[in-house]
Order: sequence, then C-alpha cells, then structure tokens
Amino acid sequence: MRPNAQRVAASAFFSLFYVYTSFVTGSHAQLGTSTVINVSPILQNAAAAPTVDRSLVSFSMELMAITGFTESEITKNIMNAWFDKTGGRPSVRIGGSGMDKSIFLPDQKEAMIYNQLPESRWDFGPSYFPIIANYFPKDTEITFGLNLANTTDNWKNTIDFAVAAKQGIPQMDRFEIGNEVDNFVRNNLRTNPWTVTDYSSQWTKVANMIKAKISDVQFQPAAYAGTSPNGFDLKQLVAAGVHNNNYRIPTYSLHFYPQSYCGAGRDATRLDSLADHNLLTTQLNLFNADIAAAEGAGGLFTFGETNSVSCSGAPDVSDTFGAALWLVNYALSAAAKRAQRVYIHSTLTTAYSMFLPKAGDNVRTGVRPMVYGMYFLAEALALPARNSNTKFLISPVALPNNAGDISVYGLYSNNNNNAAPAAGIPKPGIDVGKRRSVSTITTTIRVSKSVVLQAGVQTIMTTSLSRVAKSTVVSAVTVTTRTVRRVPVTTRVPVTTTVVKPTTRIVRNGGSDGVMTITTIIMYAAHPTVVMVPSVVRRRQTGIKTMTTQTSSVIYETKMVKAPVVTTLTAATTISWISRRITTIKTTVTVPVAARATPGARAAAEPSTNKGIYLARAVVLNLSRFNSSDEASLICRSCSKGSPPGFGTQGPRKKTSVSLSGFQPGRKLKLLRLQAAGLNAKSGASVSGLTFSDDTGAIATQAKPESVTVGADGNVNFSVLATEGVLLVDEAVK
Ligand SMILES: *[C@@H]1O[C@H](CO)[C@@H](O)[C@H](O)[C@H]1NC(C)=O
Ligand SMILES: *[C@@H]1O[C@H](CO)[C@@H](O)[C@H](O)[C@H]1NC(C)=O
Ligand SMILES: *[C@@H]1O[C@H](CO)[C@@H](O)[C@H](O)[C@H]1NC(C)=O
Ligand SMILES: *[C@@H]1O[C@H](CO)[C@@H](O)[C@H](O)[C@H]1NC(C)=O
Repeated sequence: MRPNAQRVAASAFFSLFYVYTSFVTGSHAQLGTSTVINVSPILQNAAAAPTVDRSLVSFSMELMAITGFTESEITKNIMNAWFDKTGGRPSVRIGGSGMDKSIFLPDQKEAMIYNQLPESRWDFGPSYFPIIANYFPKDTEITFGLNLANTTDNWKNTIDFAVAAKQGIPQMDRFEIGNEVDNFVRNNLRTNPWTVTDYSSQWTKVANMIKAKISDVQFQPAAYAGTSPNGFDLKQLVAAGVHNNNYRIPTYSLHFYPQSYCGAGRDATRLDSLADHNLLTTQLNLFNADIAAAEGAGGLFTFGETNSVSCSGAPDVSDTFGAALWLVNYALSAAAKRAQRVYIHSTLTTAYSMFLPKAGDNVRTGVRPMVYGMYFLAEALALPARNSNTKFLISPVALPNNAGDISVYGLYSNNNNNAAPAAGIPKPGIDVGKRRSVSTITTTIRVSKSVVLQAGVQTIMTTSLSRVAKSTVVSAVTVTTRTVRRVPVTTRVPVTTTVVKPTTRIVRNGGSDGVMTITTIIMYAAHPTVVMVPSVVRRRQTGIKTMTTQTSSVIYETKMVKAPVVTTLTAATTISWISRRITTIKTTVTVPVAARATPGARAAAEPSTNKGIYLARAVVLNLSRFNSSDEASLICRSCSKGSPPGFGTQGPRKKTSVSLSGFQPGRKLKLLRLQAAGLNAKSGASVSGLTFSDDTGAIATQAKPESVTVGADGNVNFSVLATEGVLLVDEAVK
C-alpha cells in the first residue's frame, strides 16, 4: 500500500512542492496520510518580513455598548490574558454604525440616553468618559468614532464631542470620522451623488476643525465597509489629501466581513466557508491595493472592524469553533499582509460576539470559542521573557493550490542576538529540503588563552568555537570571548586619583601551531565609564583574515576617584577597587572559506550571518471540516438560539501525522492545541486544556502543553486532528 504523503514547501526558499510516495511493506500497514511541511528555518529577507503587532487581536465595540462591556470584568480579564502573554494590550476601537447617530450633550447628567427621535439617536453626557477612562488599563490605545453624518451647524457637535472625549479619556489615541461612509447613501445618511471626493472634502473639513483644537490629534480615516464596492477606495482618499503629509494618520482602516447576515445574505451564511483557506486568501487579496495605498501615504493598514459575518453574526456559524479557527487563520494572514490589527467587533448579545459580558434577554454571560482562538494567538506571540523586546516576523508557508484544508505560518524572532546553534548541530538554513547532513570545516579558530598580568590585573581571553559551513561562501560565526578580570583590593595608586592606565600589550600566543594571534589588547583600567575593548584577531592560515567587533564594557570602579587623570600605576598608593566582574564579549568573526561545496541557489539561500532570524514558532491549522454530533458540545450557555439538531460527520475523526522541518535539530518544542469537538462545537473549546470561566472571563484551568523533540534530521513529528490547530514553540529562540 502507498501512504499518500504531501510535501509542502516553504516559499522563502523555493516554491517547489512535490508529492512523493513511499512504500510500506508488510501486511499490517494501514492506509493513512502523512503530511510533510517544510518551513524555512531562517527568514531570508527579514527587512521585508511583516512584524506582527503585539495588539494583533483587538476589540471593536459600539459607543452605546461600552457601558455594558464595562459593567463586568470579562472584557478586562480577556484583555489581561492576552497582555500577560504578549506584553501588548488589545486596543479598543469605540465605534460602528452608532457613531453617526451619536451626539454629545455637555449638560446631560446620564452617561448615555437612547433617544427615539424620527431617527434613533444616542445622546452622551460628560459622565460617559470616566466609564471608559477608569475601566481600561492606562496603556490601552483607544480609537474613538465621531459622527460625520450629522452636519448640523457645520459639525459643531462632532468637534465638541472630540474635544471632550480627548480631555476625558487619557487613553485616547486616534479618531475616526464617519463609519462605513461607502454605505451612507444606502443607509439614508447622504443622498447621491456621494463619492469619495465628497467624503474626503467633508472628512478634511472636520479633521481640520479638530486639529485646530487638538494640535497633536491622530486619525484613522476611511472605515469603509469593505474594499470599495461603491467606488470608495483608499488610493483616491489619499490622493485627495488624507495623507500623513497633512494629518497624523498612523492607520487607515477598512472593514472585513467574509459573510453577511443582512437581508438576503442570511440564508447563504456557511460555517464551512470559514474553514476554507483558499477562500480566505482570495478575500484578503482584494485588499492589496488598499494596503499599498495606506503604506504609500505613510500609514499602516488595519482591519478596524471585522468579524465572521456582518449584521451581528450568524447563529451556528459565528458562535462556533469554526469561527475560532477562522480567527487564527485570518489574523495571521492579515498580519502577513502587514495589516496592523484585526479589531473584532462585538455587541452585548449577538451571535458574533466573542464573549458576553453580562446576562441579557435569554442569554447568560459566557466566553465563546473565538476567545480560544484569540488566546491561541497570544500563545503564538508570547514573549520569551517578561521584559523582552522580541518582535515576531511572520511568513506564511506556501501551500499547494488544492490544499484549502491546511494553513501554516512560521513566526520568526527578530532578536538577532540569538546565538548560533550549539556545536555539533547543523546550522539552520543548510540543505533544507534535501535533508542531507551538513558538512563543515572542522577547525577554523582554536581556543586560545592569553594572560596579561599587570598591576594585579589578570585578563584571560578565551576564544572558542566555530563551525563554518562548507557550502557557504562567506559565513559569519559568533565567537564568544570570555574575559575575566580580577582586581585585588591591595592595588596601590595615589589617593583621590583616578587611575586611567592604558596598557598596550602585544601578545603573541603560540606561534608554533600558527593558528591564532591576538594582535592588540588595549585595556583601560579605570574610572567607571564604558570602556572599549577593541581587539583584532587574525588567523594565520591560508591567508584567511578574521575581523572582530568592538564591545563596550565597564571594567573597574573605584570609590576614591574624583577626576580622570592619566597616571602610571605605582606601587606606593592604595585604592579600593570595588569591582570584580566577569564580562562576556561577543565577537563576530567573518571567515571567507575558500572551498565552495555547492554554490548557487543553496549558498544564496543561506544567511549572511549566524545571528539568525530563527524560526521561533509554527502554527499548523488543519481546516478539514469535522462536525461534532456530541449534543453537549453544541450547546452554548451564552447563545440565544437553541443548538441545531444533532448532526455530525460520519465515522471517527481523522488524524494526520505531520512531519515538519524548520526548527533546529535536537530542540525540545512546546506543543499547544486549539481544540474542540468539531467545527460546529459551541462549547468545550480549549487551548490544550486551558479554559476561561464563563462567569468572569478569567482563566479557569491552565494549559497542559505537550512536548515534542526535533530529530537529528531536522524534522519534528506530531499528529493533528481534522479541525484542529497546533502551535509549536521553540523556547530556546528568544
Ligand atoms: C444632529 O445633531 C443635532 C445637534 O447638533 C441634533 O439636534 C439632531 O437631532 C441630530 N440629528 C440626528 C438625526 O441625530
Ligand atoms: C457541518 O455543519 C455545518 C453547519 O453548522 C454545515 O454547514 C456543514 O455542511 C457540516 N459539514 C459536514 C461535513 O457535515
Ligand atoms: C487535514 O486533515 C484531514 C483529516 O484528518 C486529512 O485527510 C488531510 O490530509 C489533512 N490535510 C493536510 C494537508 O494534512
Ligand atoms: C519522524 O518520522 C519519520 C518518518 O516516520 C521518521 O523517519 C523520523 O525518525 C521521525 N523523527 C522523530 C524525531 O521521531
């Protein structure tokens, strides 16, 4: 029998993929699938790779819903769960269709009153602002939506609202002016002709008036319902002057809903479509021109309001585990297109809300599957350490055209201080795909020691380690030089005089083996300032030259020092040295290697430095649609509609074995699963057992990650169920 294996190659190297078959002999062999996925171990062009924003998944809430969201701790707890992992606070966009029906009444006592005039209107008073200011943590970035539709008194009310909101909400970051203006005619907020030119001239007018009152104000323009179905597009808006040359515009926003529950769309909503990767790709590609326009105008593009299904979501679609898998796939695809964030739109009770903050008619509080998708993403973007500056760069893995049931992403750490792999482990980037063992030139730089003994100062320099890939034409190797300085307290110098003792020594070690010469060591034993320790290392071998970096480090400190004066150490005076430190200096050594093993494509694909942009995480989503028939999983306590009749996919749930390359051989990886009983499940979702409390939104049970080890051949094996997400984390990549 022939197990069918699909080989999926990473685009970063080459977009080849091919199917191979292998024979399994023996009568007990079972027909099964195994999928081989090659992810690039190193990001080839880090500069071009999109950086994933730390607030990738953010929230969008209507102005009038804010009071409800802030009545419970659920919103805050879910924000905190994300923050605790990623170090980024989900941003909050307060806006939506209610923006253009909202006015500010400075004398109104109540925070908000619904006013059923000829048209519905929400009236906000000054006490609305402290509700927002006090609920959201100080570092929450708030985007606030203003009314463009109501032109009364030349938008005076809109300007007053902006000024009051800016004063009342310290977290205020940017304003939107008008929501989904491309639908203004349909929504009876304007009459034809209403074009992007009309919009931009009105937007500009309002923005100028706000700018006159708040000089450093920032805006998030556009907020179109989608990709210019009515001739509204970002390019024209930018051309009309809504540009960073004229306004501070960190982001341009467009909305994205792949399906609609409005009118006729209602019956066409499909859960299956949320699990179609090819469809998602097609939908997101429609935004390419708008993304380019935003960037061309010096801003970023953002999905400023988004969810699975517009018009409040579709029951049995938006509130299922399928929506959670969709969120993961969508947010990562969006990030890979350099969209800054996806602001998931929620109301207090509807089908697409990620969580329900408070009980309402027929519904109870609850955390729906999408929150698990959000948390899975938080794990994917989790910082290696609390105060880490690491950013993750994202690269989607190219897939065969027909593989709409799988989606794979590599996340790379931008921390190029990540050391080269330990000796004995092949350098990443070599022979990926071919899986050959890596040849190296065995010795390039030998360990050397030099000891400088002077005025009681001892320096031991140890230069060690390096393996250079034969296939590399020019390779950079990180050599760690460990310098130990000991300063005896009995060292004597004139009292109250700083010692600045330049010692220049030329040390030649060995000579007989001819391997290494340390030409110069200049050492300043001195005042407690940063001191340069430049050194030049030469390899006396086939004329190959090796250069080093310069590294700063504080050497000594003394209490008695007053002013730095150059002096010579004498044996007569005493100084109390207080420092005794060990300094580790990292030195980059470039070694041009004469031998070229396999030049050409392979060599070009190799990184020019070992200080790598390494693969840190991989996300594998199997979007094959398995429906659960387990009644319990179809019931959601925060879902208003009863569960659909019990139905499910026939037969047992399938499992695929996956072999994935890209992580460094020998590494132990943490594996987390985004799991539930099926695509249609509304409850019982978890991230490897991690669950949230339906009452408070706080983490109720912790995750129990699995552990898998990368084999010597660079592959890691694991299984993935139909309708499941897997996250692999190499915690050694910081
Ligand atoms: C427009 O704003 C004015 C106040 O500036 C208000 O009196 C009027 O009711 C608003 N119109 C609508 C339709 O909300
Ligand atoms: C799974 O359920 C959804 C409805 O929730 C339906 O659209 C889809 O066809 C079902 N798929 C299968 C394979 O049964
Ligand atoms: C996804 O899972 C299904 C069911 O287990 C499997 O048949 C399919 O091959 C998997 N897709 C890939 C590309 O691994
Ligand atoms: C992964 O699976 C392949 C093929 O079944 C096997 O050759 C390899 O040894 C496995 N690697 C590990 C680390 O288990």
